Amino acid sequence: MTLLEELESAKAAALASLAAAPDIPALDHAKGSAIGPEGRFTQLMRRLGSLPKEERPAVGKAFNAAKAEIEVLLASRRADLELRAALPREPFDFSAPGRRRGVGRLHPLSQVTDDIVRAFRRLGFAVADGPEIEDEKHCFDALNTPADHPARDAQDTFFIDAPGRSLLRTHTSSVQIRVMETMPPPIRIVVPGRVFRRDNADATHNPTFHQIEGLYVDRNVTVGDLKGTVEAVFREVLGNDVRLRFRPHYFSYTEPSLEIDFTNALVRKLGKEWLEIAGCGMVHPKVFENVGYDPEQWSGWAFGFGIERIAMLRYGITDIRSFYENDVRFLRQF
Ligand code: DAH
Repeated sequence: MTLLEELESAKAAALASLAAAPDIPALDHAKGSAIGPEGRFTQLMRRLGSLPKEERPAVGKAFNAAKAEIEVLLASRRADLELRAALPREPFDFSAPGRRRGVGRLHPLSQVTDDIVRAFRRLGFAVADGPEIEDEKHCFDALNTPADHPARDAQDTFFIDAPGRSLLRTHTSSVQIRVMETMPPPIRIVVPGRVFRRDNADATHNPTFHQIEGLYVDRNVTVGDLKGTVEAVFREVLGNDVRLRFRPHYFSYTEPSLEIDFTNALVRKLGKEWLEIAGCGMVHPKVFENVGYDPEQWSGWAFGFGIERIAMLRYGITDIRSFYENDVRFLRQF
């Protein structure tokens, strides 16, 4: 066989083994046997020098052409095999929906609380808190609600069976006292928190629920400040079609005391004209005396909202118990 014939047969063998290589290692091996330092081509190349001078250019050219052909096939086979290695081994449905990680979210009561707190913070209020297990002094006495006061029976209280007559706070108003005992005026706070009452659960009651308390103490504070502030916050949280009505009421810790009624399109759709939503008023001088503030110098207002009430109005929820069941089908909607 002439060198040229040997070259042709080596090329055919190299192309065949590159084409047949099932994976990248096999391809690299085929490449090495053909054009590697000890490969068939390299060996044949060495024999070029033994040819008569006039034959060398043609055979050299044939060598280069064959090598180029091998390089082209090698590159395309490498690309194919790399792609194949990257593809899944099993048949795969690329149109199937992906698996998402379940993303949690805040409970609707937390969302409403956060929104109310955010609105008050913008107006310069700070967040305060106090204990859920309280004493009678902070929950009632200092709020001008002595033991024989009728308002105290009305709030059916859970007492704790331990010395000292501890109780579960019936309202967040206890935190007004705790804050004023520890800080001099002026005061601007809101207090979101859990409260407890001996109610049976039904669509609108639960033995534990949430309130947000507000307290503003400064010189020359007016009922106008109270109305303006509460109105601004309700608009922000429940929308611009909100209307509020302030009605005379009675609380032992405010004078005058007012109840806030609320209406919007949803309330009217439920067939009601107004819904009670909060209590408020100007802080009673006795309360200031009880915490050592001079009622001649300081004036203030306070309010307490029920958070569940507001969340029910915001989302159109008709049974308060939905908030506590932790049914993900309910919670997912917020
Ligand atoms: N503590 C009252 C309640 O639980 C709500 C309330 C009324 C809070 C008047 C206040 C207030 O701060 O001034 O029903």
